[in-house]
Amino acid sequence: MDKLKVMTIFGTRPEAIKMAPLVKELERRPEFESCCCVTAQHRQMLDTVLDIFQIKPEFDLDIMEASQSLSTITSKCLLGLEEVFRQVRPDLVLVHGDTSTTFAGALAAFYQKITIGHVEAGLRTGEKYSPYPEEMNRSMVGRLADLHFCPTESNRRNLEAEGVSKGVFVTGNTVIDALGTTVRKDFTFAEDVLNRLDYGEKKVVLVTCHRRENYGQPMEDIMAALANIARTHPEAELVYPVHLSPVVQECAHRHLDGMENVHLIAPLDVEEMHNLMARSYMVLTDSGGLQEEAPALGKPVLVLRKETERPEAVEAGTVKLAGVEYGEIVRLADELLDDPAAYQGMAHAVNPYGDGTACRRIADGILYHSGRRDTPPEPFKSR
Ligand code: UD1
Ligand code: UDP
Repeated sequence: MDKLKVMTIFGTRPEAIKMAPLVKELERRPEFESCCCVTAQHRQMLDTVLDIFQIKPEFDLDIMEASQSLSTITSKCLLGLEEVFRQVRPDLVLVHGDTSTTFAGALAAFYQKITIGHVEAGLRTGEKYSPYPEEMNRSMVGRLADLHFCPTESNRRNLEAEGVSKGVFVTGNTVIDALGTTVRKDFTFAEDVLNRLDYGEKKVVLVTCHRRENYGQPMEDIMAALANIARTHPEAELVYPVHLSPVVQECAHRHLDGMENVHLIAPLDVEEMHNLMARSYMVLTDSGGLQEEAPALGKPVLVLRKETERPEAVEAGTVKLAGVEYGEIVRLADELLDDPAAYQGMAHAVNPYGDGTACRRIADGILYHSGRRDTPPEPFKSR
């Protein structure tokens, strides 16, 4: 049988981190001809991931511009991908998650009647505008895709409730595969402030915040809460790698500049991030990826959002929804910093999101779907 020509398409930091181990898996397997196209919806934050995983995309649409609108991102991706598909006609396109690149990638492939595989399928909040625009991006890709690689059984059930049951595989999340390659005991940080922190004596609180639905009052509340936590807890060191979005940069620096125990630093590369997380006391975040990674490392997480499409770790007790209001964020952070029993109750490693072999299952699922393998991969089951 001919090799299966598979094109992976991604554009932002989290997509790159989660697609990188899959690109490697496809490159390793003789049944595939792997080809990679980045939209570069993100530039610097994408390139550091490509460097670390040594991925050299065959196509780079280079679409990033500061503060561009969602329509601009989507239309540039659509037009760019049309041209790419004219040059290479893949048998299968793989998109990931819920970004504008994901939606445009699936739509462009649909226009050319190319088979679509959706990695990290089936996550839902059920709220059209939360997260915005991600909930609609992933729902629409769920309609367009032919193959759906769900991280968890509960993601599979979400698709089933929408009438999608063909071509569905439960694989675990590829981010857990990535985590297995980055965390090391003897890791030295390039960012000097991270080497100087006393991880034994101090409580290192890792913070990230970037979601569009938090722009405005929610982000004001979150930053004010962080300032309060830093002021009232001299034993804590807040480390906040600030997303490059100009909106986020302005808000974070206005609230937190000049505080002795707050470290506003540039975005970290993925190895630095994972190793910092492994050494930290707890995590405050509105990120999707951090909600999956921190539980695997046994770190309590307060989610700075009103809802989450990742309920598994909340059910396992390592993640709490803190919301976006000043008072509740401060109350929950105080509890974790002051009450050892509350902290211990959340600080146990769980792995509801994967066992580190999601990429193998995805590759096997593709082969099964294309008639190159007799049996489907066994579904991922969380223990
Ligand atoms: C995007 C995704 C979001 C994902 C997030 C991960 C959409 C609509 N949103 O949001 O789902 O959670 O990425 O981080 O797809 N910038 C740079 N350099 C970079 C990256 C970003 O300067 O390497 C700045 C630019 O000014 C850019 C802005 O950040 O315009 C926002 O980037 P954009 O991709 O539009 O949205 P994100 O908020 O990053
Ligand atoms: N990340 C990183 N450096 C940072 C912040 C995040 O490498 O400074 C990683 C993080 O470990 C996770 C991914 O980026 O793997 C999450 O990306 P982000 O929070 O931007 O997006 P989301 O997951 O919310 O879509």
